[in-house]
Amino acid sequence: MIDLRSDTKTQPSRGMREAMANAEVGDEQRREDPTVNELERRVAELLGQEEAVYVPTATMANEIALRTLAEPSDELIAEENAHLFLSELGGPAVHAGLMTRPIRGQAGRFGPDEVQRMIRRGDDTHTPRTRVVAIENTHNASGGRVWPLEEIQALVAACRELELSAHLDGARVLNAAVASGVPAAAIAGQFDTVTLCLSKGLGCPLGALVAGSHELMKRARRFKHQFGGAMRQAGIVAAAGVYALDHNVERLADDHVRARRLAEGLHAAGVPVDLEQVETNFVQVNVGALDLEASDALARLAQEEVGFSATAHPGVLRAVTHLDIDDDDIEQAIERVPRALGVLARA
Ligand SMILES: Cc1ncc(COP(=O)(O)O)c(C=O)c1O
Repeated sequence: MIDLRSDTKTQPSRGMREAMANAEVGDEQRREDPTVNELERRVAELLGQEEAVYVPTATMANEIALRTLAEPSDELIAEENAHLFLSELGGPAVHAGLMTRPIRGQAGRFGPDEVQRMIRRGDDTHTPRTRVVAIENTHNASGGRVWPLEEIQALVAACRELELSAHLDGARVLNAAVASGVPAAAIAGQFDTVTLCLSKGLGCPLGALVAGSHELMKRARRFKHQFGGAMRQAGIVAAAGVYALDHNVERLADDHVRARRLAEGLHAAGVPVDLEQVETNFVQVNVGALDLEASDALARLAQEEVGFSATAHPGVLRAVTHLDIDDDDIEQAIERVPRALGVLARA
């Protein structure tokens, strides 16, 4: 099976497993785990933040960040297809008691004007007060799109002016950094809090970090404990993260090249792919334009042993490249996908 369902599908490599087996560990809850401490130090530096806190998942990192930045009854603004709206089971409401206000974006992005328009100052009795603006970079539901740096700067500047906190769901911010050539610190360092996921393009079995100032991370560590995310000898998995920082960051460019090759090969074969959209490791295929239901198209692809997945958009599937996909897999997929979707038969 050529598994392009998600970049979460990677298996830990041999080198990563060796690093895990040899990790020095301690009681992470007491901050005595040297490997976790090293990972947190390195990620804080990478993201241009003072401190980073290791947690099991990016979902938990996002939820802790929101809980850290706001109080129940405050309001969160984010793009309508943001992961934290679509795929965290109402977590911002459940864990932080937040009122959620979605913005309709373009390719997952929105600007200061939309925030100005949506913001509510609150009053003593009826109206929630907007506290947090969250953005996602790269933006999953729009197909791994990258926010241009100037747009981020303008948005964060507006948040500062309006006294709003800014959170970056940077689960894939390293894809954004590698694709745009902008250092991750220049992107992530602007935000009050940032999530980084280790179990996507970086190839770890689990793990994520939430980063921010010392003051905010002190609060975040309390919520991490309350959420049940404070661990014991977690260095055994944090070692995978340290290994990934050494070996799997720059190579994200390979995933991007392969996604582009896949997109161009499929497009040339007549498969409806929007080439403009391919900026990182995602390729979106509009099977609706072939009069196929997404579920039917997925079943046909599975028969050809190719794994794609559904997206938030009806009739649109995605293929995601990652560490366990090589050039040969891409060439195979370029042959199998048009066949599976009946595209050659139509030509
Ligand atoms: C943008 C984004 N943020 C957060 C997450 C959450 O990651 P996890 O499911 O590993 O908690 C995902 C997962 O797909 C994601 O794409």
